[in-house]
Amino acid sequence: MAPLDDQKTTITLPPLPFADNALEPTISARTLSFHHGKHHKAYVDKTNELIKGTPLAGRSLEDIIRGAGDNKPLFNNAAQVWNHNFYWKCLSPKATKPGADLQSKIDASFGSLDALKEKLTKAAVGQFGSGWAWLIAKGDGLEIVTTSNADTPIAHGQKPLLTGDVWEHAYYLDWQNQREAHVKALLDKLANWDFATENFAAK
Ligand SMILES: [Fe+2]
Repeated sequence: MAPLDDQKTTITLPPLPFADNALEPTISARTLSFHHGKHHKAYVDKTNELIKGTPLAGRSLEDIIRGAGDNKPLFNNAAQVWNHNFYWKCLSPKATKPGADLQSKIDASFGSLDALKEKLTKAAVGQFGSGWAWLIAKGDGLEIVTTSNADTPIAHGQKPLLTGDVWEHAYYLDWQNQREAHVKALLDKLANWDFATENFAAK
C-alpha cells in the first residue's frame, strides 16, 4: 500500500460532465477527445509530477496555484488544470439562461445579455495568442477580462462566473482560424448560465 503522503499528492482529471458528442456541432467529439483526454490530462499529470515530494503535495489546486511562487511551470500547469475544470462546467448541451438576479446584474452592467455576449466575443477575439476570456464578478458589478496563456482570475483575487477557452486546441479541429465564429456559437448554443448563476450566487 502506498504511503498516505503519496496518495495525497494526486490532482485528478474530472470526467466531462456530458457525453463526448453532446456539444456537436459546435465542439466535436474529436476536439473533446484531444482537449480533455490529451491537453487537460497532460496538465494534470505534469502538476502531479511537479508537486510530488514538495510541501504543496496533498494541497488543494487553489493552494498549489497560489503557492507556486516563482515556479512558472507549476503555476502554468496547475492553473490550466483549474481553468479547464471550470471551463467544462461552463458548457451545457441544453439551453440555459441567467437566473433573475444575475440577469438584473447583466442588464445593469452591459445593457443586455446580447450586449454581454458581444463584448465577451470581442474580448475573446482580441486576446492575442492563447488565453481565456472571462465574465467575472467585481465589486457590485460584472466585468469582462481576458487572461493570457495559463493565467487565471483566481490568481488575482477575481471571481469568475463563465469562461471561454481561446487556445487554438479548443476549436481548431472544428473551426480552424475562425475564432470569432467559434466563440459566438459557444455563447449562443453552449454557455451554461445555470453554472454562471450558481457562481454569481456564491460570490
Ligand atoms: Fe484548453
